[in-house]
Amino acid sequence: MINIFIENDLGERQALEVPTDMGFNLMEILKAYEYDIQATCGGMALCATCHIEVLEGKERLPESNDQELDTLDTLPNADSNSRLSCQLRPSDEMDGLVFRLKALQEA
Ligand code: FES
Repeated sequence: MINIFIENDLGERQALEVPTDMGFNLMEILKAYEYDIQATCGGMALCATCHIEVLEGKERLPESNDQELDTLDTLPNADSNSRLSCQLRPSDEMDGLVFRLKALQEA
């Protein structure tokens, strides 16, 4: 189990307990916590509705694959801190990660 944090527009952080041994990706975890992520592509790195901005811990994440980069390239509000949460599998290296949900801000 690791802890990750989601920061809202007010700068408040919510801690989430995240299992690292159950095979879920981060998008699935966020949905399990009832964040309103559509995930219309089902985690295929195509819909970008699971877009997050990593505020702390970016250097500890694995590199994006080509599909993730292609999809992020299509987003007007993506930058070098952007990731697709469906492409991130929680691991011990991600303990303490802080991020913001970008797709929700657009809605
Ligand atoms: S769920 Fe569609 S890109 Fe992540």
